[in-house]
Amino acid sequence: MKNKILVTGGAGYIGTHTCIALHEAGYEVVVYDNLSNSSREAINRISTLIGQPIDFIEGDIRDANMLREVFAAHQFFGVIHFAGLKAVGESVAKPLLYYNNNVSGTITLLQVMAEYDVKNLVFSSSATVYGDPETLPIDEVSARSCTNPYGQSKLAVEHILEDLAVSDASWSLIPLRYFNPVGAHPSGQIGEDPNDIPNNLMPYISQVAVGKLEMLSIFGNDYPTVDGTGVRDFIHVTDLAQGHVAALNYLQQHASSKSGSDTASSVGFLPINLGTGKGTSVLDLVAAFTKVSKQPIPYQFAARRAGDIASCYASADKAKELLGWEAKLSITDMCQDTWRWQSMNPNGYK
Ligand code: NAD
Ligand code: WQD
Repeated sequence: MKNKILVTGGAGYIGTHTCIALHEAGYEVVVYDNLSNSSREAINRISTLIGQPIDFIEGDIRDANMLREVFAAHQFFGVIHFAGLKAVGESVAKPLLYYNNNVSGTITLLQVMAEYDVKNLVFSSSATVYGDPETLPIDEVSARSCTNPYGQSKLAVEHILEDLAVSDASWSLIPLRYFNPVGAHPSGQIGEDPNDIPNNLMPYISQVAVGKLEMLSIFGNDYPTVDGTGVRDFIHVTDLAQGHVAALNYLQQHASSKSGSDTASSVGFLPINLGTGKGTSVLDLVAAFTKVSKQPIPYQFAARRAGDIASCYASADKAKELLGWEAKLSITDMCQDTWRWQSMNPNGYK
């Protein structure tokens, strides 16, 4: 069985955790990343944690020739495609950058995959493709719509993957729609390392707790939720990483493979939510983090953030039924591991 996987964006937050999970599950990993939002130190730390050097290539997914060299040098079973830009606000200011990187980059990757007849892909999609959901929990057949260029870029790639699956039945394409990934590796060696002031809640809270930021602003306390603050489905990044292993295992069993059983048919386009199915409010997360870190987390209520929705949590049934995967770790685990990472690495990888 072929077990070598190309991991684009593997030096990033979710990619690093997934590389470790893939290695532990017996997959061989080649990381391809342009380090635009990550560092070599993250790669070094993966190598230390797995006890052997990880195969790393510094390259851009928009560079078709470089990708060709990589595909020519390795026999891949498939690709996990994390590479992308992810800051919603920045995407509003720089839409062309986001469409170029996330959409054109993915098209280039898919073209090279087709050239080398590697047609198994796990793609980092997002719960953002559901926009403001009509019903909760959100299942995979819910309507999709986006209001910002980042979300549009994810949705555009999903449409491209759907069209590709229709055009050629030998593709097996699984967009995993992540809800809100948080937490860090239990070793405290790898975690989320935002470049500037964090946009997302958990890294903001942890930087307040460690004393790097003064105060959290809670965006809105008048939402129709349990305590007026936003409700999200926070999922531990190591659970998320296991979800990728489960998706690959599914592809190993169900996707057609040149070297595997010729009788297997392909998977087509198969979107799957990765969430816990549970909603947690902003205030509940602040309280959980305060308890775990034993640090004060001063906060103030501020106006709602443009584009935010009241509540968002997954139906995680499809992942359980098809992949045999479900999230195991609690909000306390998420806060404990984030705090360990933040307090051991107050300046991230720097
Ligand atoms: P990240 O920024 O930590 O990792 C992305 C990696 O991709 C980085 O290492 C970056 O250097 C690399 N990269 C970006 N553009 C590239 C390019 N053109 N060529 C090669 N490498 C490139 O982000 P993350 O949180 O690990 O997210 C991974 C993926 O999951 C992204 O596609 C993101 O949009 C998606 N996602 C993230 C979240 C979240 O909240 N973290 C939620 C849903 C979906
Ligand atoms: C969570 C809650 C905020 C910061 C974003 C992207 C989404 C996906 C995950 C990539 C909301 C509140 C936040 C702060 C706050 N990423 N908040 N003060 O917005 O659910 O999702 O990350 O695909 O596309 O949009 O996550 O962590 O930013 O916010 O009160 O300083 O925390 O208003 O209610 P979000 P988040």
